[in-house]
Amino acid sequence: MEKLVHSAKKHNKGGGPSLWVTASGKGGAGKTFVTSSLAITLTKLGYSVIIVDLDAAGANVHTALGQNPAPVSLRNWLEGQKDLAGIVTPTNLPRLSFVQGLWDSWCPIELSVENMRKLAAELRTLRCDFVLVDLGPGATEAHLELFRGADEKILVSTPEPTSIEKTYRFLEAYICSTLRDSARPEAFEDLLKTLREHRHRRHKKPFSFRGHLREHEGFQIDHFEALSRSPVRLVINACRSQVNAELGYSMKSVCSKYYDLGLDFLGALDFDNAVWQSVKNKEQVLIAQPFTPLAGQFLAVCKHLIAPEELRAVG
Ligand SMILES: Nc1ncnc2c1ncn2[C@@H]1O[C@H](COP(=O)(O)OP(=O)(O)O)[C@@H](O)[C@H]1O
Ligand SMILES: [Mg+2]
Repeated sequence: MEKLVHSAKKHNKGGGPSLWVTASGKGGAGKTFVTSSLAITLTKLGYSVIIVDLDAAGANVHTALGQNPAPVSLRNWLEGQKDLAGIVTPTNLPRLSFVQGLWDSWCPIELSVENMRKLAAELRTLRCDFVLVDLGPGATEAHLELFRGADEKILVSTPEPTSIEKTYRFLEAYICSTLRDSARPEAFEDLLKTLREHRHRRHKKPFSFRGHLREHEGFQIDHFEALSRSPVRLVINACRSQVNAELGYSMKSVCSKYYDLGLDFLGALDFDNAVWQSVKNKEQVLIAQPFTPLAGQFLAVCKHLIAPEELRAVG
């Protein structure tokens, strides 16, 4: 791989770290794998990265990275004992640290919207180039709060129908959450009612956000244009065929047709047995096997997300 270092200019124009949030409609789609792989790829490009494990029910970033659970965790932050910087734990990999999630699940904590607002502000103050957040599965209000505010919003789906369906449900929840803020309350309630009716198949035609916004008052006319300024990105993970890999394009056109949402298909990621085998060996696959097609696919994703002028080749 070409060796690159971080140029003086930050990816995030605001000055703090750039915030990438990885989400999925369904558990097991590969969020943790994708987040840890993106993080490792970014460190290979010369950036410093902190991964934050926000899967409240299934925190396992440490396992995916081949690390032991850290002595301090998000629990210390949630309970007010430490600030966020105080729970960042270095790994044995260069330029990579992580925030241990809630792995002591005998004492569960519900992550609230309020928690997320506070967290989002503190994440921006961390000293690194990129903060990558691994969200739990599904579209809770707390998830959507953080997802909406991210610099990069990355959805992970597998090619399985169960995962694809949940990806669409996540996108609908995301769109609704953005409309709730900008639409007139009665127009928003009416939209939810229509959406529910469609879910119960009381209408023949599939629901179209584009159509609904055109035909009803109370919405901002340029809502979807505003959303497209920070597009949702999609990766199809664990692909076993070309047909699997091309699914991203079909999903992109469904989103455009029915949601008026310009989904950005980042690409397909191979299914590779080495992924789980390397977890067993306590080594992330891109460290154990750095020159595979999978490693190339993650590099392509990162290069797509970072402006070319911000990557500087050395040696
Ligand atoms: N591309 C892949 N190829 C092979 N196995 C994968 C791939 N992506 C994920 N896995 C495996 O699938 C399981 C679920 O992945 P994980 O990242 O934990 O999902 P999530 O975080 O969305 O619940 C893990 O055992 C992981 O090692
Ligand atoms: Mg996970």
